[in-house]
Amino acid sequence: MESLGRPLRVGFIGAGKMACAILEGMVLSDQIQATNVLVSAPSDKNLLKFKGCGCMVTHSNEAVVEDCKVVFLATKPHVLPGVLKDISDAVTKEHIIISVAAGITLETLEKFLPPETKVLRAMPNLPCVVQVGAVVFARGSCAGNQEAAVLKTLMSGCGLCEETPESYIDIHTGLSGSGVAYVYMFAEALAEGAVKMGMPSDLANKIAAHTLLLFLQGAAKMILETGEHPAKLRNDVCTPGGTTIYACHELEKGALRATVMNAVEAGTKRAQDMGKS
Ligand SMILES: NC(=O)c1ccc[n+]([C@@H]2O[C@H](COP(=O)([O-])OP(=O)(O)OC[C@H]3O[C@@H](n4cnc5c(N)ncnc54)[C@H](OP(=O)(O)O)[C@@H]3O)[C@@H](O)[C@H]2O)c1
Repeated sequence: MESLGRPLRVGFIGAGKMACAILEGMVLSDQIQATNVLVSAPSDKNLLKFKGCGCMVTHSNEAVVEDCKVVFLATKPHVLPGVLKDISDAVTKEHIIISVAAGITLETLEKFLPPETKVLRAMPNLPCVVQVGAVVFARGSCAGNQEAAVLKTLMSGCGLCEETPESYIDIHTGLSGSGVAYVYMFAEALAEGAVKMGMPSDLANKIAAHTLLLFLQGAAKMILETGEHPAKLRNDVCTPGGTTIYACHELEKGALRATVMNAVEAGTKRAQDMGKS
């Protein structure tokens, strides 16, 4: 991407897992070259990985703002207010500031930054690293169509990227941000079931992962491509009196659906509470 005929400079404040996932998605999809990315963090622990990918690195958050037009705020939420205070003097109306911190509202971001700052709040998830993430974002009061378009373009390589009302962002956190962990737990449980029935753990884990890879990918495609409700598609694969309906009965007895619904609700409420504090 270019800005005024020069390659666009993109900065990351925070060099952790999420910064890495977004960067990989952007670089793999050719939206940006690593050499035009500047990343800051207090220690070298994670910066070295970014340096290895060809990015520029620094310990100064202000240097990122001074050098880059688009700046992702990718620290943990509790350190973000301090970071916003640090960078506030360097932020201008030309910047596009994108926070990915869970629970930190647009109102809070705008309160800490100079008036008229163009702020966006995005909620990605880790599968962005393999370009199958799901990102939702909302724009602050001074961010317009152009800023939303820049974010969408940069994130296009990360997977699905949708603009939504801000209130959906916490729900997305409970659904998709945390959903990756639910899927790992499901993989673990599938394998443990096979171990219980006598299969060695290594093999069970491999088969569980392949089951998720092939079947979930296929199942997800079916939902997206047919537009059918998942309940209808599940019904279609349950042969009357067959193994699947017997197994599904056990999942119902264990209240799988109610438990997952509770998990999404708990994740959403936790993100809402974090925003309030
Ligand atoms: N992980 C997810 O699945 C996920 C999903 C959605 C949203 N998010 C959001 O993404 C954000 C980052 O999460 P993460 O999982 O990437 O965290 P993480 O791996 O712990 O990384 C946090 C990064 O912030 C850096 N940092 C700490 N204090 C800083 C400061 N004062 N100035 C600049 N950088 C500082 C850390 O530096 P060091 O390298 O020196 O330790 C580290 O590089 C969070 O706000 C989270 O809510 C994460």
